[in-house]
Amino acid sequence: MVRERARFVCQECGAEFAKWAGRCPECGTWNSIVEAEPLISSRGRKVELGKAAGTVRLRDVSAEDGERISTGFGELDRVLGGGIVPGSLILFGGDPGIGKSTLLLQVAERISRRYGACLYVSGEESARQIKLRADRIGVDGDRIELLCETDLSLVMAHIRREGPRLVVVDSIQTVYLPDIPSAPGSIAQVRECTGELMGMAKETGIPVMLVGHVTKEGIIAGPKMLEHMVDTVLYFEGERVSEFRILRSVKNRFGSTNEVGIFEMREGGLVEVENPSSFFLSGRAGDVPGSVVSASMGGTRPLLIEVQALVGPSVMGVPQRMVTGISPNRLSLLLAVLERRIGMRLQYKDVFVNVVGGIRVEETAVDLGVAVAISSSLKDKAIDPEILVFGEVGLGGEVRAVDHAGQRVREGVKLGFKRCVIPEGNARSVRLEEGVEVIGVKTVKEAIDILI
Ligand code: TYD
Ligand code: MG
Repeated sequence: MVRERARFVCQECGAEFAKWAGRCPECGTWNSIVEAEPLISSRGRKVELGKAAGTVRLRDVSAEDGERISTGFGELDRVLGGGIVPGSLILFGGDPGIGKSTLLLQVAERISRRYGACLYVSGEESARQIKLRADRIGVDGDRIELLCETDLSLVMAHIRREGPRLVVVDSIQTVYLPDIPSAPGSIAQVRECTGELMGMAKETGIPVMLVGHVTKEGIIAGPKMLEHMVDTVLYFEGERVSEFRILRSVKNRFGSTNEVGIFEMREGGLVEVENPSSFFLSGRAGDVPGSVVSASMGGTRPLLIEVQALVGPSVMGVPQRMVTGISPNRLSLLLAVLERRIGMRLQYKDVFVNVVGGIRVEETAVDLGVAVAISSSLKDKAIDPEILVFGEVGLGGEVRAVDHAGQRVREGVKLGFKRCVIPEGNARSVRLEEGVEVIGVKTVKEAIDILI
């Protein structure tokens, strides 16, 4: 490290001098002059003494959100907590080919139309490839500046000069800072590049959307560190074979992490799904044993989902238990309740449970739906397709009340369900709706007796 020529500073008045003196020539104070060492920050940046970080009195900080920027996609805005907060850094994760670049190009287009020029930095694809995609999805890109560049220092210079309304970096693993010796995508590069973008975003108020690759384990490459650094982490998920895409936030400094946004990948790019419940229930076979519709809350919005179960004799010694869409632990618990409290014989059976549409449910309100679907398959008796079932199941076989019961029932009514089997604890408070019969149950056994 080359040491800079020493400078001296008066601790009293802050004046700087090339030489030391016993008494400050500026303010006349004795013994106030000290050597001003250039402070070296973690990245070798020199911080000058006397330029201390400015503080703000907590009382004077405005709690106002400021104007959020609408992405032009209601689903995305909702997941973000009401649009993009200026100066925020949003990480966008997801498997390759899921549609991250497509969505961000569409977002850049919509924001640029409404607010002004946006910058799209691509280290992954050539300008021609992006143009082909843009043509395919009908993005005209009149106000989108493309920068196919991986040297982040050049990107930063461009941003500072042009001041775009939004910066998209596709992807954080392909950009690098030349003064850091390691390769693009390495932890050091990812950390420093993210830090650089974060600093710029906070300073200028320009929001940044970063694409991050997800490894097989489902963690954005460059461990958890990247997730810790940014303000918001969104994951774009879905089966490659099906066209739904679910946008979920796993971290959000500016909103809740319960919201999900639902999109469909079409020929012309990503389209928001206006009525997700009917979308998830489309293609339902109707009166097949093992199928039941339950209601889950996707954040603030109720979502009707179809739970399917298939129970059959186990051909191998050890019965198989396979589940998609709910947690395997929850399934084990429900199976134990069905065996011990209701006396169902499931020990020697294979049990498969699936939530249709690739959606993952993380709340216990679908317990009763799962338990009923398993019983229906075991007894090989279909459940009336116009019944909606929800409730949490306790270890004693009791059905416990859940939150937002009224909203769940109303969603069912909206989609034409005629009866709702719900926890007794909720049935009393749910306002009766026209054309729907609400049946409160206290135990799983009671629900099964009514339904099967
Ligand atoms: P892409 O946005 O490139 O995914 P990512 O950036 O997450 O890797 O999307 C790639 C897939 O999306 C590709 O397999 C083709 C499909 N696709 C459509 O179905 N419709 C479209 O309009 C576009 C642009 C892509
Ligand atoms: Mg891409």
